[in-house]
Amino acid sequence: MRILVIGSGGREHALVLSLSLSQHVEEVFCCPGNPGISQLAQCSPIKVDDFAKLAEFAASQKIDLTIVGPDDPLADGIVDFFEERNLKIFGPRKDAAKLEWSKYFAKEFMLRRGIPSAKYAAFDRREHAIAYAYSRQLPVVIKADGLARGKGVAVVNSYDGAIGAINSCFDGKFGEAGKMVIIEDFLPGTEASVFAICDGENYALLPTAQDYKRLLDGNKGPNTGGMGARSPNPLIDWETLKKIEKTIIQPTLLGMKEEGRPYKGFLYVGVMLDQNKEPFVVEFNSRLGDPETQVVLPLLECDLFEVIWQASEGNLGFFKGILPSAETSGNGAAVCVVMASQGYPDKVAAGMPIRFKVGFSLGSQSQLLDQTKEVDPNRAKILLFHAGTKLDNQRNLITSGGRVLGVTALAQNPEDAKEFAYKAVNKIDFAGKQNRLDIAAD
Ligand code: AMP
Ligand code: GLY
Repeated sequence: MRILVIGSGGREHALVLSLSLSQHVEEVFCCPGNPGISQLAQCSPIKVDDFAKLAEFAASQKIDLTIVGPDDPLADGIVDFFEERNLKIFGPRKDAAKLEWSKYFAKEFMLRRGIPSAKYAAFDRREHAIAYAYSRQLPVVIKADGLARGKGVAVVNSYDGAIGAINSCFDGKFGEAGKMVIIEDFLPGTEASVFAICDGENYALLPTAQDYKRLLDGNKGPNTGGMGARSPNPLIDWETLKKIEKTIIQPTLLGMKEEGRPYKGFLYVGVMLDQNKEPFVVEFNSRLGDPETQVVLPLLECDLFEVIWQASEGNLGFFKGILPSAETSGNGAAVCVVMASQGYPDKVAAGMPIRFKVGFSLGSQSQLLDQTKEVDPNRAKILLFHAGTKLDNQRNLITSGGRVLGVTALAQNPEDAKEFAYKAVNKIDFAGKQNRLDIAAD
């Protein structure tokens, strides 16, 4: 099989790594990819929104299956575009990806289907939104309806803050995405990320994860795309996972099918667990999480490609349930620490040379694996996932984006995974680097 992965971040690097290990996969291609991915896959610099060029590439390279990483192309209908041209692609069609690209749609859907989520109201008029916000207890959550690169959600502790957030939406800070505003009650609890591979009807669960969304230690500072992750998520025991399947995942897949939008692709459920571990949906995403993918996929103890292929064929019955992994065998854990550029999550400084303190220059998987032998091969393996990196004219690795690298350690237990992830982080340097020091610390 010849596989094309679309995207250029740490999530796509982790996808490419897992797919390239499959016995069924002859070659992996990636558009546009990054320097880390290019060690494993043939990268071609086609942008993720250039559907015509991507489809042409898939056809000319005789790609057997295209797998989509990021949300934007899914929301813009890349799956429909490929399918209209008889090109095989894995991901939800535009009308199913709506679970992510319209929070209003997702909230209405959950209400219709009795899926637990925060109480809400939706507004397309500023005055009405403000009046409703005043009627709710603080904190309250203000959300732009559409995709806003993770910035469209404000959890506010004052009515002034609520008005500010509502005004930002209606004043056009998020463009079209902010034309409708959702106001939600605040759900107290702890968040978890749960991922299912879906075939339109059946699903297979990946290992559970915890994302660290805030920029700073102690879950302080602004929301980001994610500053680190761990898997498994220690909060999710067997019983809780079963509850998430029964009250969220099953009714979601059934509801989408019954409403004529069968959901095929990765489904990411952002869950809030209250103090009794009752699950509520915070958000749906129509893709895998980043950085969560960087801890979840390396723990799988089955062939990821096989599962995705069967899902794309509408034939997941065979794999149904929870996929074998270090989580189900109780035999291992992964921790990922994200190293970000100065200024992230706002405007970032790019072009900083990335230096590896011991021995590895290009940051390839193989060089890095050599490097980890030095750390302690019996206790941990390090995977260095590239995101905002690029090669300059002299082929030196430099920073080129907000989140630069995801440093993942795999070990027998979470404590070792954390220790070795940070050992590796300490060997990597670039000017202005930011990383949290408390990933997997609690
Ligand atoms: P979203 O993009 O909808 O996932 O929201 C971003 C982040 O805001 C979530 O990961 C939560 O940390 C927080 N959040 C969103 N909605 C709520 C809610 N109803 N209650 C508490 N926190 C929330
Ligand atoms: N880590 C959160 C996300 O991928 O949306």
